[in-house]
Amino acid sequence: MTLGAVLRRANEHLAARGSETPRLDAELLLAHALGRSRIELYTDLDRPLNADELDRYRELVARRSRHEPVAYILGEWGFRRLTLKVDRRALIPRPETEMVVERCLALLRGTAAPAVIDVGTGSGAIALALADEHPGARVTGIDVSPDAVALARENALRAPAPVELLEHDLLEGLPGGSYDLVVSNPPYVAAEELAHLMPDVRDWEPHVALVGEGVTEAVAANAIRALRPGGWLVLEVGDGQAPETVALLERLGYRDPRVTPDLAGRDRVVEARWPGTG
Ligand SMILES: C[S@@+](CC[C@H](N)C(=O)[O-])C[C@H]1O[C@@H](n2cnc3c(N)ncnc32)[C@H](O)[C@@H]1O
Repeated sequence: MTLGAVLRRANEHLAARGSETPRLDAELLLAHALGRSRIELYTDLDRPLNADELDRYRELVARRSRHEPVAYILGEWGFRRLTLKVDRRALIPRPETEMVVERCLALLRGTAAPAVIDVGTGSGAIALALADEHPGARVTGIDVSPDAVALARENALRAPAPVELLEHDLLEGLPGGSYDLVVSNPPYVAAEELAHLMPDVRDWEPHVALVGEGVTEAVAANAIRALRPGGWLVLEVGDGQAPETVALLERLGYRDPRVTPDLAGRDRVVEARWPGTG
């Protein structure tokens, strides 16, 4: 069978098994099985696969058809300029979280050596991207999950700029202080919504990264003691949660709230400033 033919078959198979991106999945997995880039597949669509290659590919497609996320099968995933190691120890970094980083970078522009804390750092995605893209930033990432912190530390070893990574429960308050910016993509799925999530997410990603009621509130409340006057809080929120998050921040005394949509036009980033001259 040629590359073109196996891609067609895998596409049909994965579509029937409920993948929302069957062709993309099929291509990423074939590129991985062959040790090639996706683009290289296109110059080789008429080439037949040998038996070993076909076996390797079948195994990967079988994993995907059991709803294992492509990122976990590949073992790495792109986030901004970084390629991060990803596995079941932490959430797969999402495209909308790249917008969170974008807003942080905009707020930090002009500050030479800002102190930043990423609350619930997971794979380390936000912390590592900020350290990479704002040279001089002093970035700390915390997570309650020892597994996530271990993964983030592995990613930090591969990353271009250092960050401090700590196992810490945000409910005990934030470590350190006088931060220029507190950022968090907290778990924001209500427990009763978990059953309605796609099996790829529900059955594979850590529930401590997904489900959390009151975590956004706890981050916002604890950030007050950790921020310097004039410092910023940047939060990723679930679809539809931006208005209540803005109201929460205003109730707590934050100023200048701003909501930014993701690339799909959904309001997913809320930021506000702790009062003070800075
Ligand atoms: C939605 S994930 C975000 C991961 C990563 N920042 C990202 O954007 O890809 C939320 C993270 O918060 C962590 N978390 C949940 N409850 C926490 C708590 N009480 N204290 C610290 N971290 C917590 C989870 O372990 C998880 O890694």
